[in-house]
Amino acid sequence: MQKLYAVIGDPIAQSMSPIMHNDLFQFYGIDAHYHAFAIKEKNLEIAVNGFRAIDLAGFNVTVPHKVAIMPLLDEIDPLAKSIGAVNTVVNVNGCLIGYNTDGSGFVHGLKSKLPSIVNKKVLIIGAGGAARSIYFTLASVGVGTIDLTNRTLEKAKGLSYDCPYEVQTSILTLSEAEEQLAVYDIIIQTTSIGMAPQTECKPISLHNLRENTFVSDIIYNPLETEFLKRAKERGAITENGIAMFVNQGALAFEKWTGILPDTNRMAITVQKQLGGK
Ligand code: ATR
Repeated sequence: MQKLYAVIGDPIAQSMSPIMHNDLFQFYGIDAHYHAFAIKEKNLEIAVNGFRAIDLAGFNVTVPHKVAIMPLLDEIDPLAKSIGAVNTVVNVNGCLIGYNTDGSGFVHGLKSKLPSIVNKKVLIIGAGGAARSIYFTLASVGVGTIDLTNRTLEKAKGLSYDCPYEVQTSILTLSEAEEQLAVYDIIIQTTSIGMAPQTECKPISLHNLRENTFVSDIIYNPLETEFLKRAKERGAITENGIAMFVNQGALAFEKWTGILPDTNRMAITVQKQLGGK
């Protein structure tokens, strides 16, 4: 019988996950279908019970359900538990197990682009949900240092305090980060600044950026933010948010099917959908 997978969120119409996963099911000859469901917050528990009733094989969880889903599941992977958010659920013989592949997807993509991330100096801009999953996952795999900069310093401090994995961290104001930008090997932009429709904004100035620094922006609309444009002009190696989106999807697909899919194919599917080359 055909297996059914899903993504739940609200809103969800804009999600590129169905196109990406359905293309993979077809490409790998798997008899399965992936569907997007708009679920209101008040209906989350009913939806999960419905998924149990129809024995849904697995699903992705997006805004605003990533935290609220947790008590409705049977098991939570330790990394997802420490992050405090779930984006992927696997149904193992009726037992719903929650994972977080956002951070691990990001790190998986990073490892595929850089020869090594050991001993690297990382700066994360932002301290929201995305920063949290990336910071915790990078800390769990062991990088040199991860500094945090954010408009609201208390949020960055809280994020670092909550992390169960040991890593050396300084909390910096945005202007302190700008001043010492040249010390970093990897810079990860996780705020919503520069996202359409306010594409002219960038979170920090890049006048001190060193050539060949790896600069990633998790935004994919637009495909090249003002921040990435400036970074590229200064000789950085840049990556947009398609990388994180595709890699979180690839790790979810692997958990469901045992196949780690071709992320280049996934990126092309998503890029076409976004109107890019
Ligand atoms: P997500 O889950 O996508 O990470 P989030 O949890 O709402 O989203 O976090 C948004 C991040 O963008 C935060 O770091 C936020 O900074 P604050 O903690 O100071 O709110 C940052 N951010 C959003 N708009 C911003 C702005 N106009 N200027 C500076 N930082 C901004």
